[in-house]
Amino acid sequence: MRLKKIKDSDKIVRECKNFVDNPNNYKNKWNKVFKNDNPIEIEIGMGKGDFLISKALNNPNINYIGIEKYDSVLVYVKRKLDELNLENIKIINIDASNLLDVFGKEISKIYLNFSDPWPKKRHTKRRLTYESFLNIYDQVFVNQNVNIEMKTDNDDLFEYSLESFKEHGYEINKIDRNIDDLYKTEYEKKFIEKGKNINFVAVTK
Ligand SMILES: C[S@@+](CC[C@H](N)C(=O)[O-])C[C@H]1O[C@@H](n2cnc3c(N)ncnc32)[C@H](O)[C@@H]1O
Repeated sequence: MRLKKIKDSDKIVRECKNFVDNPNNYKNKWNKVFKNDNPIEIEIGMGKGDFLISKALNNPNINYIGIEKYDSVLVYVKRKLDELNLENIKIINIDASNLLDVFGKEISKIYLNFSDPWPKKRHTKRRLTYESFLNIYDQVFVNQNVNIEMKTDNDDLFEYSLESFKEHGYEINKIDRNIDDLYKTEYEKKFIEKGKNINFVAVTK
């Protein structure tokens, strides 16, 4: 994502009532943060938030946590959330590599939407579907029931991820190379406008 540096973004984001500061304090306690035992779904690399906000609006009995490594991006999410009064969505500012500091076995689903493709071979390890990330994801699911959905415009990342999922013992439940999802991300809308097909895969273990 091309980033515009926003002055004081760290402070601005902290003013959002949906922002959770020091998320490490809530490992294994996210049900207390939401004040209910509803399932918790997370999006890694939420960007400007359209996908997760519409999910939260339409699914009041599911709790959502948006994860984003840049607070400047979260300022856009804050602007949208400030207009709403949503109790079932939280946003946190961490890198996915630190997921295990923040979550125990308490997640029902992970969304990977339009993850950075890192096309160069020497950057393979940075892809969010690289083996080391899958090892992390394995450890956050309730009852170890892996449940991941991925969407991407990037055909190479998609093929790479399918192989990585399979090698890691994940079962591919659904593949659609031209999905028209009800819940669209900002990137998805842009790529659809350009006529690009959107790839989707759902995996479990
Ligand atoms: C290409 S953008 C897609 C944003 C959004 N999901 C969408 O589809 O519109 C990827 C986003 O993931 C974030 N991101 C990339 N790597 C991440 C990581 N390791 N941990 C958390 N966020 C990450 C980036 O900062 C960026 O906002």
